[in-house]
This record gives sequence, structure tokens and C-alpha cells, in this order.
Amino acid sequence: MKQFKILYLASEISPFAIAGGLADVTGALPKAYKNLNQEIRIMVPKYKFINERKYVLREVIRLREIPVTVNGQTVNASVKSAFLPDSKVQVYFIEVGDFFNRPGIYNDPKTNKPYEDNGVRFAFFSRAVIETLKKLSWQPDVIHCNDWQTAYVPVYLKTIYQGDPFFKGIKTLYTIHNLTNQGEFDVDLAEKIDFDKSQVKEGGMFYKDGKLNLTKAAIYFSDFITTVSETYAHEILANDEVGFGFGPILEEKGDKFEGILNGVDYGIWTPEKDKYIPYHYSKEDLSNKEENKKALLMRLGMEYEPDVPVIGMISKLTPQKGFDLIAAIMDDLIKENVKLVIHGDGDRDLAEKFLEYAKKYPDKVSVSITYDEKMAHLIEAGSDMFLMPSRYEPCGLNQIYSMRYGTVPIVSAVGGLYDSVEDIDEETGEGTGFIIEKLTPEDTLKAIKRALKYYQDKEKWQNLQKRIMEEDFSWDYAAKRYLDIFDRLVNDTDDLENIV
Ligand code: GLC
Repeated sequence: MKQFKILYLASEISPFAIAGGLADVTGALPKAYKNLNQEIRIMVPKYKFINERKYVLREVIRLREIPVTVNGQTVNASVKSAFLPDSKVQVYFIEVGDFFNRPGIYNDPKTNKPYEDNGVRFAFFSRAVIETLKKLSWQPDVIHCNDWQTAYVPVYLKTIYQGDPFFKGIKTLYTIHNLTNQGEFDVDLAEKIDFDKSQVKEGGMFYKDGKLNLTKAAIYFSDFITTVSETYAHEILANDEVGFGFGPILEEKGDKFEGILNGVDYGIWTPEKDKYIPYHYSKEDLSNKEENKKALLMRLGMEYEPDVPVIGMISKLTPQKGFDLIAAIMDDLIKENVKLVIHGDGDRDLAEKFLEYAKKYPDKVSVSITYDEKMAHLIEAGSDMFLMPSRYEPCGLNQIYSMRYGTVPIVSAVGGLYDSVEDIDEETGEGTGFIIEKLTPEDTLKAIKRALKYYQDKEKWQNLQKRIMEEDFSWDYAAKRYLDIFDRLVNDTDDLENIV
């Protein structure tokens, strides 16, 4: 395998700064690059809440007080470094003035609203990244950017830094994790982040639906675009609702737009050695899975009943995740022999109805509107089934984690869910989960009932559990696909150098 110098950029990284699945990917894909013998470094913002002592962050003396200027305002950047746990992957945490010295990643925890200067904060981060590379004298072959917070980098490289020989030939790959978050800002942001104002109007490269749009900027300025599953990539092109209108410009990218299904870090998500669960187990002996179920129910103050299955959900409470579908079938679900456990951050209004059910049926429904990493692991281990009726899902990771824990997924047939779960054929017994055919309450209930029925046959169920625990979604395969793209890119002379 050829060796590349890869810089990985993101706004989240597990275990240091987590808001969603992006953090899991940043914490894992670089390790897979490393295992494939690549030279890989990660750069992320140094948020205030990252525990420097716990994670042994060290100052990098020669990367101190690097001046970073955006729109005439200069602040200093300083870099601290640490390794991704259990690896030799170096992470650079960049402090940029006071921009990240706050308690939240994107939102102010007090108001739960985005910080007003988000568009400017991440511009400073991106400029700091570029300046840090120079100071380091490290010239990556490829910069792997992720989501809008890093969309500025391909733009700056091909505008402000275009004539700078240090950056000549560096390729950029941009991964879309979810088009729900596009980085949309008022058009007057352009000036504040040194973007060409003339491109923020109808037909402009930074302009979409009356706003400055960073995803659109990244799509134009990056050498290659990926998203996190093949089906989501197709859906973006084919379905305007899923693609938020990005279909046509991604279509123009031709073979420079691909879907690659995320992998899983089995060093973290594996019931044999999961550090967050009380009882370890394996497919050879599932008896301790039941102990985790007892522990989970006890934690939630629910009674353990041996033959009553638990359906887990770890999910942001947002409309994307299909909570309206579940809300519509709650009355039917209550009548079934089942317990429902919902855990995740999100929309309080959306949660209201579920909280009411939890109050009325405390032994059947549990709802916690928060995200706790430890709890997430216990739900994976202690549930019998895992429900994800998403309206769209770029990749989704919990359904893949679930399989490793012998927790049978019930999922809608969209995006990464469709690419990772195969519907169970009741006759042959093949398949890895229960697919909700159409996004309707009826079909959602139908799939859940199918699962509940299957669960009644203990032997069949155990065989299914053992089978799904064997599924392998490790990162190695996806990482190799990215490396193939890098190979194509570095050999490609037809790049975007003269885009503007
Ligand atoms: C986003 C997507 C999710 C995906 C994750 C990691 O959170 O919503 O589907 O798994 O990014 O790529």
C-alpha cells in the first residue's frame, strides 16, 4: 500500500469532544489509516472542556503563539498534542484566541442555542490549521475535511493561499456527514471570513437559498466529495428532500462524488471488553447479556421480567430520526409485551409526548433527554432490540454497534441503515434485522411486531443474535477505499487550481 501524508480535520473527536457520530468517526478512521501504514495527523479545536490532565495534553513549544488573521483581526493560536487512546495517532488541539474557550462545541449550554459567531469561530480554526502546517513544515498530500466546520480550508487553499508554493499540489477531500447541518449563515458573513462577496448572490459558489452556505462552498472547492454510505449518496442525487437541493451540483462532480459506509471501532464497541458495561459476554455465551439487561432496567427503575423484551433507542430527538412515527404508534406499543427505552439529547417538544407515556407507564417506557456515553453502552448491551426508524440516515452507527452486541436492529430502509442491515427472511432465517418497509406508522408497527414474534422462539432468536454478532464492519475496508481515492487524486493533474 502506498503511503500518504494525511491531515484529518474535524470539529468533534471521540473521546475528547463528542456531539454526535462525527466524533466516533474522527476517533476511529485515522486509526485505520495508521494501521494501513499511513502518516496521519488530526487537528481539532481545543475546547475548554477537554480535560488536559486526564488525556495528557502536552504543549508543543514550537507551535506557540502563531498569528492567525481573518478579516484584519489577528489572534494567536497555540497547539497542544496528545495521542488518540490506544494508538500512535497524533492529535493536535488548536487554541485559537478565545474562540473555543467555551463550555459548548456549537451551542451555548445555557440557552441551547448556537453561538452567534460560529461562522467566524471555525474560520479562525481553519486559518489556524493552515498556518500551523506552515509552522510545522509538514506538507500533507491530502487534507480530509469533515462537515461545514472545516469547509473553509479547501476554499482558503484555493483563494488566499493559491500562490503559496508550500500548499501547491495538496488535495482536499470533503466528507458530508449529514446535510441537515450545512453551515448556513447570513450573507454578510462573507466579509468577516475573507470569502469573495461577489460569490454570495444568486448563482454564486457560496450562495444557496438566500444564505451563505459552507457546504456548497466545500463542494465547489474540494477535489473530491464523499458521504458516509452509498445509499445516502444515491438518495442525495435522486431525492431533493434528502439532498436539500444539492443533487445537481453533486451530479456535476461526476465520479468525484462517492458514498463510503462508515466502519466501527471494535476496540470500543465490543461486548467482550466494553469498559462501560458491568458484564462482559461473547457470542459463545450470551448469558451475561441478560445480566446487562437486568442492570439496565435496575438503573432505569424498571422491573426485570424475563420474557419481556427491551427495545432500545439512542438517538437525538429530532424529526429526522422518525420520532413522529413512534409517537403515532405509542398506544399500540403499550399494549404489547415490551419495554421501550429512549435516550438522547434533543428537542424537548418532541420529547413531551414520550415523557408523558413514561410518566403514565413507568414500567413500560423510559425516557432520558440527555446523552451519557456510559448509558449508551449499557443500552446497547442490555436491550434485545434496537429501533431506528429514521426518515433519512447518512450512515447511522448504532445499528452497527447493536449487531455486535447481539441486539437486533429494527430499521427503516434508508441510507446507511439500508446498507448495513439485511431484512430477515422468516423462511430461510437469513438476514440481520427487521426492515421497516415504508416510512409509515403502520409499517413501523409491523416491523416491531415481527421482531416481537421472532423473539418468542428462544432458539431462533439466539441463533440470530449469534449470527449478527459475527458481522464485520471494521474500518479497514472503508479506510482502503479512501486511500484508493487519495491515490487517484495525487495522480490527477486536472485539479481545481484555477477555480476562481
Ligand atoms: C452524522 C449522521 C450519521 C452518521 C454520522 C457519522 O451524525 O447523521 O448518520 O453516522 O454523522 O458519519
